[in-house]
Amino acid sequence: MTLRSAGALFLIALVFGVAIDWSHCKVVQFIFGDSLSDVGNNQYLSKSLAKANLPWYGIDFGSGVPNGRFCNGRTVADIIGDTMGLPRPPALLDPSLNEDTILENGVNFASGGGGILNETATYFIQRFSLYRQIELFIGTQELIREKLGAKAADKFFQESLYVVALGSNDFINNFLMPVSGDSWTYSDDSFVTYLVQTLQAQITLLHSLGARQLLVFGLGPMGCIPLQRVLSTNGECRDRANKLALSFNQVASQMVDDLTSSLPNASFRFGDAYNVVDDLIKNPSKYGFTNSDSPCCSFGRIRPALTCIPASRLCKDRSKYVFWDEYHPSDSANQLIANEMIRKMGFSRPNLSPAPSMAPAPES
Ligand SMILES: *[C@@H]1O[C@H](CO)[C@@H](O)[C@H](O)[C@H]1NC(C)=O
Ligand SMILES: *[C@@H]1O[C@H](CO)[C@@H](O)[C@H](O)[C@H]1NC(C)=O
Repeated sequence: MTLRSAGALFLIALVFGVAIDWSHCKVVQFIFGDSLSDVGNNQYLSKSLAKANLPWYGIDFGSGVPNGRFCNGRTVADIIGDTMGLPRPPALLDPSLNEDTILENGVNFASGGGGILNETATYFIQRFSLYRQIELFIGTQELIREKLGAKAADKFFQESLYVVALGSNDFINNFLMPVSGDSWTYSDDSFVTYLVQTLQAQITLLHSLGARQLLVFGLGPMGCIPLQRVLSTNGECRDRANKLALSFNQVASQMVDDLTSSLPNASFRFGDAYNVVDDLIKNPSKYGFTNSDSPCCSFGRIRPALTCIPASRLCKDRSKYVFWDEYHPSDSANQLIANEMIRKMGFSRPNLSPAPSMAPAPES
């Protein structure tokens, strides 16, 4: 076992308060999410309309070639995993994925446009909703069971770390769209209840599949993403969307706590960075940012530009923009969000190995 993986195991033990079995060294992550966590799945969905496969996506990541992340650099899950010394799980549809790479690195099932609800964002044509991602995870489990045998496979899946990070699309690309069926069926409160009940069933299903250590990411002030500001009449944040995010965070956080006490051996945590991002948007200079209301990558004055494309123009200093495109935070904002989640989860950075950084960290 390397010093680094020993550090990671120790941290996980610290965070989740679990007893570590030192005979099994490798802890990996299984990540379920949307475009905020996608590391390439949608690139391989030939019919998907939500893809990050053109410049300038990925410009601050590695060699700068688009890699499927809907960002100029790293996702929040990248940064949190790096901090814990965990390998970055490859996309499920990555052609190099096989049993050995799964055992070494885990799998990322996240898909741009994906929601908690099956009916979310159907107009992207192809995307993995959370239920679909869990079905795909069951397929992954079958592969590993064949390779290791049932007993070792169960142990592997119980020791792994799970991340579940969805919800924005269920609002932005479903409930808050006047054409969506759900906007006719539910009130704000009953929609949040429906969403969190669905998420509860999904997390319970993951527990029945072996998940014991699981992090649920909450939502940020989604009424302040550039796309939502453009849709509001005065360019301000949309208050209703922000209230929905706060309400989701409150109800989902309680649900996660309840599951932790009711499901055997469950160590489930909920974390959001709503307040810090809200403050960052209101006071960007306090955090070393200069812009918090428009996308760094934009197509002249045409707004909203639904995606960043090669003909788009980039802002001068990408590290000083909160938003990379109409929907997604920049690498430097993601660093701030990850720092906040790490702080809330109550662990500090290991001093064994500094987390790799692809872009300048914001001053904070
Ligand atoms: C959601 O989709 C999954 C398949 O991905 C299906 O098994 C499930 O029954 C669907 N749930 C609802 C409520 O439609
Ligand atoms: C809970 O943990 C104990 C001790 O490791 C184990 O014996 C038991 O089988 C576990 N139960 C479940 C449902 O995972």
